[in-house]
Amino acid sequence: MATVDLILPQHRYVIEITPGSLSWLGERLRAVAAHQRAAIIVDETLTDTYGKTARLSLKEAGYAVTCTTMTSTERHKSLDTVRTLYDHLLLDRLERKSPVIALGGGVVGDVAGFVAATYLRGVPFVQCPTTLLAMVDASVGGKVGVNVPQGKNLIGAFHQPRLVLCDTDTLKSLPGRELRCGLAECVKHGVIRSPRKFEWLEKHLDNVLALDAKALVELVHWNVQIKAKVVMADEKEAGERAHLNFGHTFAHAIEAATSHLSSGDEDEASGAYHHGEAVSLGMVAATRLAVDAGQCPGEVLERLIALLDRIGLPTAATPGRLHEAAALIELMRMDKKVAGGRIRLVLPRELGKVTVTDEATDAQIAAAWKSLAG
Ligand code: GLY
Repeated sequence: MATVDLILPQHRYVIEITPGSLSWLGERLRAVAAHQRAAIIVDETLTDTYGKTARLSLKEAGYAVTCTTMTSTERHKSLDTVRTLYDHLLLDRLERKSPVIALGGGVVGDVAGFVAATYLRGVPFVQCPTTLLAMVDASVGGKVGVNVPQGKNLIGAFHQPRLVLCDTDTLKSLPGRELRCGLAECVKHGVIRSPRKFEWLEKHLDNVLALDAKALVELVHWNVQIKAKVVMADEKEAGERAHLNFGHTFAHAIEAATSHLSSGDEDEASGAYHHGEAVSLGMVAATRLAVDAGQCPGEVLERLIALLDRIGLPTAATPGRLHEAAALIELMRMDKKVAGGRIRLVLPRELGKVTVTDEATDAQIAAAWKSLAG
């Protein structure tokens, strides 16, 4: 069993990374949030599989369990979904000490976490992530929230979980595209903090893509270690937690330009980039900007592109799929990280080291956008 302890001034919790761990969820929950009742909020496609395992385990541990499903698209990461979930929890008379358990990917974790942060002014929360992206990023560190038509994640809170249980067996049924998207965040962790782990990915990528059980545990473990260390140093993103946004200011503009949060189109049908794909393009754009500004060796960009290509993530934009650079820059200014109208970027200096700057000019940013089009 691999574990990481996340220790903050007001909170302390364990992130457990083990194949099959969903079957002992109830026992673990007893230790951190003992109560008569518990609510599971589960991705609707997982109800009869992992939902069943989790329910059974909670029942065996003596909980009366209510289970509510939700659709896990970005469009459903909304205040409407939150309201529906409140209605269920109120109807089922969940109380202040009743834990809410998120079972699914990042969307489910973010929405269920927001519900847990606000229902009765906050109830115990547990994350059971079932995607790589949720295991290595979204479920660690307490950021929860929803999208609004104006942008992604603009409404939210910090609500730390009591426990995170990563059952790496769930990754075996993950669609390949989602596994690749999660790997984008793993590449990000290597670039911002660890040349050694970047190398690990270069070396072990084939084992990961083949879903080798040992490689998956090791992958999730080192990524959670990096993420946890950043969060422990800066829980509320006053400083270095911003490093986790490497590639994300570009990515959020790509997602805003290509997705249809308010139109009703589903991501698949609209051909929108998924988050990890947008992050992949964003990391390439940010690194190219740093290299062109003479602040980062060209070798970093070459290794980054080579690794992302091997994973099967996009490193150049399909012609016609992205807007004009000027429109994208305007979308970057909508990002919630903008301060005083200036775009803040995380740029690599070398593998394992990044800096935050708001000094990049519109011309430099436009050149980075244009370079993505080849
Ligand atoms: N995903 C970025 C953060 O947790 O800060």
